[in-house]
Amino acid sequence: MKKIGIGFVGCGCISGIYLKNLTNMFREVEIIGVCDLIRERAEKAVEEYNIPKLYEDMYELFRDPDVDIVLNITRPYEHYEVTKQALLHGKHVYSEKPLSPDLNEARELVALAAEKNLRLGGAPDTFMGAGIQTARHLIDSGFIGTPIGGTARFVSNGPERWHPDPEFLYQYGGGPLFDMGPYYVTALINLLGPVAEVNGMTAKSFPTRPILSQKKYGNIIDVEVPTFSMGTMRFKSGALANIFTTFDVTHNDHDVLEIYGSEGTIYVPDPNCFSGEVLLQRIGSTEKVSMPLIFDYPENSRGLGLADMAKALTTGRDHRANCHQQLHVVEVMSAVCTSSETGKTVTIESAFERKAPMKTSALTGILDD
Ligand SMILES: NC(=O)c1ccc[n+]([C@@H]2O[C@H](COP(=O)([O-])OP(=O)(O)OC[C@H]3O[C@@H](n4cnc5c(N)ncnc54)[C@H](O)[C@@H]3O)[C@@H](O)[C@H]2O)c1
Repeated sequence: MKKIGIGFVGCGCISGIYLKNLTNMFREVEIIGVCDLIRERAEKAVEEYNIPKLYEDMYELFRDPDVDIVLNITRPYEHYEVTKQALLHGKHVYSEKPLSPDLNEARELVALAAEKNLRLGGAPDTFMGAGIQTARHLIDSGFIGTPIGGTARFVSNGPERWHPDPEFLYQYGGGPLFDMGPYYVTALINLLGPVAEVNGMTAKSFPTRPILSQKKYGNIIDVEVPTFSMGTMRFKSGALANIFTTFDVTHNDHDVLEIYGSEGTIYVPDPNCFSGEVLLQRIGSTEKVSMPLIFDYPENSRGLGLADMAKALTTGRDHRANCHQQLHVVEVMSAVCTSSETGKTVTIESAFERKAPMKTSALTGILDD
């Protein structure tokens, strides 16, 4: 069977794990070529992973008939234009999160993909990993009774400690809510279903941040976005959950993600990862019980959503990490900010339907039909 051809736009910090997994883990795709505004980054990728083509720019990539899916791993403020141009050139697109930081642009991209009859999807795909899929199975099977709510927390003291070029994480499209929120909101909607309404409050605790990673150590970043945000979601089911994301806190002692039900609680592993311990504590039990992970992809399987979309292209089924999910997530995150500005609860308009749970496979890297 012909493999699905992938073209990379962007060869920055996160490209390494995509290059590795799309080369070694996922057997139904092949990397055709790469490009980056900083040519040396693309050259390094070509050399390290023996990639056939290095394009001058993204337009040359879009014109290559061997590329079926464009992987957009540029910075958040660049996602919209790259995805839009790729769609206009007739390519399917898989984009890093968020789909766009701007809700109207995200809506436009979803409409454009539909109009052109092209697949559009993207990160995060951690919800397809062993951890969240096991938690979903337990909740759907009634282990905690009727779900009534949850809490999600991403607490850190900022990516300027490790990212070599962290500026974009404090610019439009960045901040803890838009950078990390997608993992937590995506996990929540895969566990509790679609969101109906949202309110929130956000703050910017520090106006500037010194870069602490090596290459640009000591440079000062002007903070353009909120770095401390709290949102509350009412799900269509009636369940309530909150999401706290921050780049401003060094110490904390909260569990990352908990789902509460009428008959118990599930402690869900960090949705920033593909796995971790799933703990169940049913009412009446004095202990949390570690549940076996019953799905594949416990390791760092970034690219899983792309491989799933590639397989779906060949079989005609829906892909799991799809643009409707991404749009719903962007709308929820935007609503936290809008509510903070207006003091009002925001109604969510986009529809979201959970896709089929993952299926286990005898061979890692082969997705279901
Ligand atoms: N760094 C991480 O750990 C991480 C983890 C998960 C997701 N992500 C997401 O991945 C995306 C990229 O993050 P990153 O950390 O790799 O950023 P980065 O700044 O390290 O890399 C982005 C790269 O895209 C290139 N680029 C931008 N526009 C381009 C264009 N038109 N054509 C060709 N190349 C172009 C830039 O030159 C740069 O090399 C972001 O959306 C981020 O949210 C990053």
